[in-house]
Amino acid sequence: MNPVDYLRISLIDRCNFRCQYCMPEGAELEYILRDSLLSRDEIRVLLQEVFIPLGFRKFRLTGGEPLLRPDVVEIVADIAQLSETQDIAMTTNAYLLADKAQALHNAGLRRINISLDSLDPENFDKIIGNRGKSRWQRTWQGIQTAYEVGFNPLKLNVVVIPGVNDGEVLDLAALTLNRNWHVRFIEFMPIGNASLFQDRAWIPSEELRQQIRDRWGLESGNVTGNGPADVFQIPGAKGTIGFISQMSECFCDRCNRMRLSADGLLRPCLLNETGQIDLKTALREGKSLSYLRNQVGDLLAIKPEINYKMRDSGTENGFYDRSMSQIGG
Ligand code: GTP
Ligand code: 5AD
Ligand code: SF4
Repeated sequence: MNPVDYLRISLIDRCNFRCQYCMPEGAELEYILRDSLLSRDEIRVLLQEVFIPLGFRKFRLTGGEPLLRPDVVEIVADIAQLSETQDIAMTTNAYLLADKAQALHNAGLRRINISLDSLDPENFDKIIGNRGKSRWQRTWQGIQTAYEVGFNPLKLNVVVIPGVNDGEVLDLAALTLNRNWHVRFIEFMPIGNASLFQDRAWIPSEELRQQIRDRWGLESGNVTGNGPADVFQIPGAKGTIGFISQMSECFCDRCNRMRLSADGLLRPCLLNETGQIDLKTALREGKSLSYLRNQVGDLLAIKPEINYKMRDSGTENGFYDRSMSQIGG
């Protein structure tokens, strides 16, 4: 059994994009009020006194969009300074990254994963639900700046949706040829937007691998990471190509993570709320830190039974009516 040592910390549930596959269509989301977000101090105390003593060493900041959080740089610095931290990373849409990349790097962030579902500005805007001035250029600038500042590895996450961006797989894979960038193709999960999830809304990673193999060849690769991606490489390419295949090759059995929501709920599994703990309320009610440690320890002990099995989820009964942006991806 995998040790659970990876905590994904959502800093805020708001996002400046409305990706079709992430947000429920049309619905207005109810956002967490500012006073209900875990504060910078509460996050630090929880890591230092609860999660680190229980063996957590790897932390990823997510959202919504984590860069919307005004104190994001300070939170990074706090976590980077904890001597037990082995890895601190972030997942962002990069729209605000050009301005923040240097400060984040100075604060101790060394690696970053960026959602980029299309290289075509028009398609990109459609996917992120943008109707105004194109947001592609500024996002691309964010990625370039992160690269120049020295984030390494720099990964690009592509959720592949048939009829939307599956025609761009080779163009996106080609980004790895001359750049030390790491592109990951993600099978679309039945979560967020039911209307996109029809008979076959996800393409098995093996089909994408075959396309890439036919064009350039493909061998196994290697890149730093704590997630479930299987890593490959085009022979001679500078970067790698990863595949996150939760639908075709369920990896729930080797799950190594828990999630802390922006309002302090500890979720044992992306898709299953059983046993979740309201750490913020407990903290604010003055419960002792040893009590919280015991609670989280008990949840860790039963996590293998809670882990949702993507493999068993049909589109009818397995569709999960919640937006990824609220859970932190
Ligand atoms: P690395 O440490 O760089 O490997 O990052 P990561 O892959 O753990 O993080 P990232 O935020 O980039 O996640 C990439 C994608 O993996 C997400 O968008 C999800 O689609 C998927 N993913 C991450 N965690 C889980 C999980 O617990 N369950 C499932 N089913 N999918 C997950
Ligand atoms: N299926 C797979 N990945 C998703 N993400 C958001 N919604 C989905 C979904 N339905 C991914 C984004 C981002 C990460 C935080 O979550 O692409 O990389
Ligand atoms: Fe898109 Fe990420 Fe925002 Fe969801 S949270 S709308 S995937 S940028």
